[in-house]
Amino acid sequence: MGDDTDEGYESIVSSTSGQSCTTWAGIQGTLADPREKESKEEVIAKIDALYESGVPFFTKRAIRALSDQLKTKTTPGDKIVTEDLTGASIEWKVKIGKSIELIFGEDCPENRKECVYSEAGVGYRSRSMLKQSLDWYGVEDTAYEPLSLTYRICRLDPNSKTRETIPDDLENIKDRETVTKDFQEKFQVWEESETCAHFKSILSSEVSGHEINKIVGLACGSLALPNNEQATNQTAVLVSVRNWLKEREKKDDISCYIQDPMNTSVDREVLTDIGFEMIDDPRGWLEIDERSVVLSVAPNVPVKEIIADTARPAVVIWNRVPDEDTDSTDPDTARVREMMAGYKLHEFGDEERWADVAIYTRESKVAPVPRADGMFQN
Ligand SMILES: C[S@@+](CC[C@H](N)C(=O)[O-])C[C@H]1O[C@@H](n2cnc3c(N)ncnc32)[C@H](O)[C@@H]1O
Repeated sequence: MGDDTDEGYESIVSSTSGQSCTTWAGIQGTLADPREKESKEEVIAKIDALYESGVPFFTKRAIRALSDQLKTKTTPGDKIVTEDLTGASIEWKVKIGKSIELIFGEDCPENRKECVYSEAGVGYRSRSMLKQSLDWYGVEDTAYEPLSLTYRICRLDPNSKTRETIPDDLENIKDRETVTKDFQEKFQVWEESETCAHFKSILSSEVSGHEINKIVGLACGSLALPNNEQATNQTAVLVSVRNWLKEREKKDDISCYIQDPMNTSVDREVLTDIGFEMIDDPRGWLEIDERSVVLSVAPNVPVKEIIADTARPAVVIWNRVPDEDTDSTDPDTARVREMMAGYKLHEFGDEERWADVAIYTRESKVAPVPRADGMFQN
């Protein structure tokens, strides 16, 4: 059933990283069965109590349920249903294809652009973000829901009679040949570096007995967009892990994935050429398991919190976890530290670009088994 009325959006967020600027509209979910109104203080106390009692905020079951619905419910008016931390059902309206007018910059007629809700994405709210949302939006129906629905907003081509959209960053995307050549040159330099030799020696000595069959890169950024230095560095590390693993396992077919919503169609081609499949959020979280090597540096999503709740990869390469909580888009928290207690830290090296990043290898060779609710206990 179609539904032409647009109830609007809750927030418009520009996701910027120095590489790209993508616009996302956060939409409001509503409780299927309204509950009694609670004060902000009551909600905070309940969120803290849920966290401290060990209730997982992110589960593969919930992410898979949402992922499945995103694939099948694509008509405006369809309803996507999620379950919050209290077990209540939250309903989200599908908006794909609906029009929306946005003002880009100062409010004047030329800056008013007709846009459209494009593909759906998933928003992830850690414990601290759930609490911050109370300051921004008050106590909403989604107060206890770490997963949310967002939509990529694309501008409509004013010259198109068939409502074609203008791809984000169209004029900035480099062509496949240029990107491949640039990556291969930098990869060679990295492969011949001392840091890379040190990195591979850590893998060989620390996880020689671990079963590993998958490599997942998260939030690396785009190789095809400008300012791709970090994307290049991080992708190069992933390719080195693959080469190391291929040699160790004496086989070619290692599953290698990269997830970053910023990636373009040129990234897809270049990544395929170097043996990596570009996957859509939220598949990355579902792929990560005890036989995985995961890399994630400075993500815009709470990667550490999601993984602390859902998996114990053999190796994680991410920003060093300090002894106290940090508040960022990828916060360091008690759960993350608890996970890290089962890992050994190795420094990446002295190079500036790796200064904040550490390599963590799982102490236990044997893959830990999650509890019935999917959580892990160290
Ligand atoms: C601050 S940038 C960091 C990029 C790069 N890793 C670096 O070190 O510069 C944050 C990245 O997180 C990505 N990101 C946002 N949501 C994501 C998601 N759900 N899964 C994977 N990456 C995501 C963004 O697209 C962006 O490339």
